[in-house]
Amino acid sequence: MRPHLKILVIEDAVDLLEQITSSIGNTITYFDRSDVEISLLEANSVAKALQFVREDGDIQAVVFSWDVVAKVKELTDVVPLNGVLNENTSPAAESVSSQNANEKTTSEKSSARNAIIDNNARVIDAIKRIRPELPVYVLGDAVKGLDIVNQANGIESFFYRNDIISDPESILGYIINDFDDRNETPFWTEYKDYVVESNDSWHTPGHSGGASFRNSPYISDFYRFFGRNVFVSDLSVSVDSLGSLSDGTHAIGKAQAAVANTFEVRHSYFVTNGSSTSNKIILQTLLREGDKVIADRNCHKSVHYGIIQARAMPVYLDSVFNPEYGIFSPPRMAQIKQLIEENTDAKLIVLTGCTYDGLLTDLKQVVNLAHEHGIKVFIDEAWFAYSLFHPALRDYSAIAAGADYITHSAHKVVSAFSQASFIHVNDPDFDKDFFKEVFAIHTSTSPKYQLIASLDVCRQQLEMEGYKILNELLSNVAELKSQMAKFKRLKILSPSDFSNMFSHFESDNIGHDPLKILIDVSALDYSNQEIHRFLMDEVGLEIEKFTHSTILVLLTLGGMRSKIVRLYNALKRLDDGAVNLSKRKSKSPLPADIPPIHLDDLPSKAFFSPREAIPWQNSVGRTAAGLITPYPPGIPLIVPGQKVEQAHIDYLQALASQKLTVQGIYDGEIYVVADQQ
Ligand SMILES: Cc1ncc(COP(=O)(O)O)c(C=O)c1O
Repeated sequence: MRPHLKILVIEDAVDLLEQITSSIGNTITYFDRSDVEISLLEANSVAKALQFVREDGDIQAVVFSWDVVAKVKELTDVVPLNGVLNENTSPAAESVSSQNANEKTTSEKSSARNAIIDNNARVIDAIKRIRPELPVYVLGDAVKGLDIVNQANGIESFFYRNDIISDPESILGYIINDFDDRNETPFWTEYKDYVVESNDSWHTPGHSGGASFRNSPYISDFYRFFGRNVFVSDLSVSVDSLGSLSDGTHAIGKAQAAVANTFEVRHSYFVTNGSSTSNKIILQTLLREGDKVIADRNCHKSVHYGIIQARAMPVYLDSVFNPEYGIFSPPRMAQIKQLIEENTDAKLIVLTGCTYDGLLTDLKQVVNLAHEHGIKVFIDEAWFAYSLFHPALRDYSAIAAGADYITHSAHKVVSAFSQASFIHVNDPDFDKDFFKEVFAIHTSTSPKYQLIASLDVCRQQLEMEGYKILNELLSNVAELKSQMAKFKRLKILSPSDFSNMFSHFESDNIGHDPLKILIDVSALDYSNQEIHRFLMDEVGLEIEKFTHSTILVLLTLGGMRSKIVRLYNALKRLDDGAVNLSKRKSKSPLPADIPPIHLDDLPSKAFFSPREAIPWQNSVGRTAAGLITPYPPGIPLIVPGQKVEQAHIDYLQALASQKLTVQGIYDGEIYVVADQQ
């Protein structure tokens, strides 16, 4: 299994196409690259080329002959992409076609579509809209060279066609160099070399390359289980040549710069304690005591704790919860607009871009509204780190929308070790020096190099094959969905179901990530625990989350087709009733309305005050000192600084009968601000 550099050559004159590909093809052996498979793919029309770009994720470079004649039709007839967000059209298909929308009055439609496009830069745009990371090399003649470069933004390089035919090595050298640059892993490569070369360890960690485990009659099984490389590569001190996380120098700095390049942001940082820490770092960097921050009440608890640490004042967006399915949606756009307009002095708005269940906020609207008032936008995209790498998802990406700060739990849905997280920064006013100090408050001086290396290769994979893997996953989900449409009882929930659940789904242009497969199991009469156990035993599937009527299965970059077939098989057996599971006891749905939050003072004041524990039933009128969050739905019911009201007690009482977990209640007691005697 070697990396594959497949070069797509686009030229509509068949003879010329043959001449270009054979002259480039004949030079491949001169480069002596046994580590990479290099091949050429011919497209003799724009339609064919776009189809290849969409379907063949192995393409890593495009050579485009500028005198190709392209028709408007070829740019608009985009074969629908798999795994579309909207059931009828894909955003990518829409975006390619929307640029020509004005040309398509009904009467002129067919002639307009057959018209020849006047500027081949639009072909390059269409390629880039599918895969922005693909380098495009333009071939032209000597006369038009400068014009072409002026018109075609985003081309990698320009070559004279005649030179390519007489000296094809020049372009192939370029293509291979660019491929190598995109494929580089500055930290992982240097780290691996360092580990291989150093054969004696005189520094921390104290196990000295595993010796203290290996030579012990008690703990050598620990060494054997994980294997030699885990121990010899566990350096845990800053090796100068590798650099350090806090100052981003050397190999770590280069790897972070490569991430920023791939994600097209100003700066990227590695965090080795999860997005929980990334979120707190951003909040403490941006907020000072008393600063207002507009926050989605559903944000992860790290956001709530980050606001407390920063001693900031939250203004909460209400949660919109569907009790029948036990899931919540992004906040209403009308309320986001209202709170922004009522709080133009807010420093920041913080939202979760993609909910656990895959519901996606139209972030472009939020960014526009917030930036109009000088409010920075921070998006927690913990569950959507792959958002930029496929056009069916990109419209909902926080980075594409122009957010200022973004966090990604790389370990959740892409390929990195647990706790590995990215912070991306696109804020032109970013205070880098203060950020570094806050970073130092939150992070260890002995970060685990293996986590850092995993972030480095995570970037490499997204850059080199993110599109290919996502395309396959989306197509597998689409197939699973169409097969499951024949089921009698089980159903994958889709945008039309979400729009029935949430009245603002369509008007707010909410999307859904199809890789978060939410299955409606309400028509089955088995207990949830039993369904869970069955899927675990049958397919080894650990369900991400279940409510009384849904189960959530996440497809991540590791989601192979065979896994999906096994899932289908197990679901089919459940649907057919071909299983022997105990029945569900009837359960009342969760209460629909969650009492709103009213705060008179900073949550941090209550949080850091002297506190006492009292039975939650007796807490009406007292000021909460901690967060109280029932799971599900995982929305904080009470935040520090909030006066407990009877409505909260009623809500908790309604949950008590359902035996849910409630974080923040300890042995029947909650913490409140102590009475000052
Ligand atoms: C929306 C959201 N943000 C942040 C986090 C924390 O991420 P991590 O597990 O990387 O600390 C989670 C964890 O589940 C989450 O759901």
